[in-house]
Amino acid sequence: MKVDQFNKRILITGGAGFIGSHVVKYFVHQHPEIFVVNCDLLTYAGNLSNLKEIETAPNYGFEKQDIRDLNAIQTVFNQYKITDVIHLAAESHVDRSIESPTDFISTNVLGTVNLLLAAKEYWKNSMNSHRFYHVSTDEVYGSLGETGKFTETTSYDPRSPYSASKASSDHLVRAFHHTYQLPIVISNCSNNYGPYQFPEKLIPLMINNILHQKELPVYGQGLNVRDWLWVGDHVSAIHRIFFNGQDGETYNIGGNCEMKNIDLVNLLCQIVDSALNRPDGSSKQLIRYVKDRAGHDLRYAIDASKIKEKLSWEPSMDLEQGLKITVDWYLQNTEWLNQIVNGEYQNYYQRHYSKRNELQY
Ligand code: NAD
Ligand code: DAU
Repeated sequence: MKVDQFNKRILITGGAGFIGSHVVKYFVHQHPEIFVVNCDLLTYAGNLSNLKEIETAPNYGFEKQDIRDLNAIQTVFNQYKITDVIHLAAESHVDRSIESPTDFISTNVLGTVNLLLAAKEYWKNSMNSHRFYHVSTDEVYGSLGETGKFTETTSYDPRSPYSASKASSDHLVRAFHHTYQLPIVISNCSNNYGPYQFPEKLIPLMINNILHQKELPVYGQGLNVRDWLWVGDHVSAIHRIFFNGQDGETYNIGGNCEMKNIDLVNLLCQIVDSALNRPDGSSKQLIRYVKDRAGHDLRYAIDASKIKEKLSWEPSMDLEQGLKITVDWYLQNTEWLNQIVNGEYQNYYQRHYSKRNELQY
């Protein structure tokens, strides 16, 4: 089937990552009338085995490309006649941005500009019938004290190289809307959790360490607060915004589930102990308070009333329930986890993909 027989051809960037793989699978399953092109460089965070269940679907294509390469992105637009973009590709881990900020600027800032330039050029004669959806983070708003929440009008105050790079990309997306009338929409969301999250982030890292009875490193005193959003709820919000969001608007997405890190780690210990029939309290003994993250933001919290009022979207998952489902998933998918720990996951592209890269122009 030719790609122009589909109603839309959506370019999803970063579709082999954690959130992106959930978004790709949802669109491929729910919208057989839409062709989804997943463009991902497969950095350490990209894992094509996340997408096994849809890799042969007739409305799915994969392109191993670097968004920092403008020519490569323009080629993808031309080959697939891209009608819309959902942009998730990014360097996403705050600790890595502290160690090595340059990659965050090149991918998150330059990569986003390349996508904006390619869309502006390719859609120049039909701007109004397209959509460029930029997926961003609540970290652009900075850090909160004990009270208050981020709204869409909170001033930007990014404080890590990661959040500064995401803030910069948000500004560029808005600048392309203002200057060139590129049809855009942005969402800023809180901390996602759920299956397929790379085990460098707090929740899967802790689950993996509890499983292997390794120490559980809690930064500082563990008093930092995050608002946890079930990845499935994030996907449903993205879907709603993509189809119903207002051109040029920003929507905050939150889970309504604030928790201090130390309370979260204790809860995870309890859930894993119970799932593995370990004596209650045994995993908590693995907790170690370690050196704090440099510039560690104290608290994030989202006021998601705009998306509730305008688009009738609300998060559905209770945090404890979501953590139990997540723990069960990691316990049932130890092979997925082991392949990351031993690096084997990075061979998936060579083994399954390089031979069957059938472009459908
Ligand atoms: P992730 O790190 O799991 O995945 C990122 C993906 O982008 C990977 O598949 C990686 O291979 C790809 N990628 C990186 N550099 C690339 C490049 N130069 N060219 C093409 N592909 C490249 O990230 P995630 O946690 O799924 O986050 C996805 C998006 O959502 C990011 O934009 C992030 O800023 C945003 N976000 C994440 C969270 C969260 O809690 N994880 C919260 C708010 C916003
Ligand atoms: O708020 C949205 C952001 O959430 C996203 O934009 C980022 O891409 C995503 O990585 C996440 O950022 P955080 O820095 O909040 O997530 P992380 O899982 O790295 O850390 C969550 C909290 O746990 C944070 O306060 C730091 C702390 N932490 C983290 C790790 C990895 C620890 O105490 N120990 C750890 O080992």
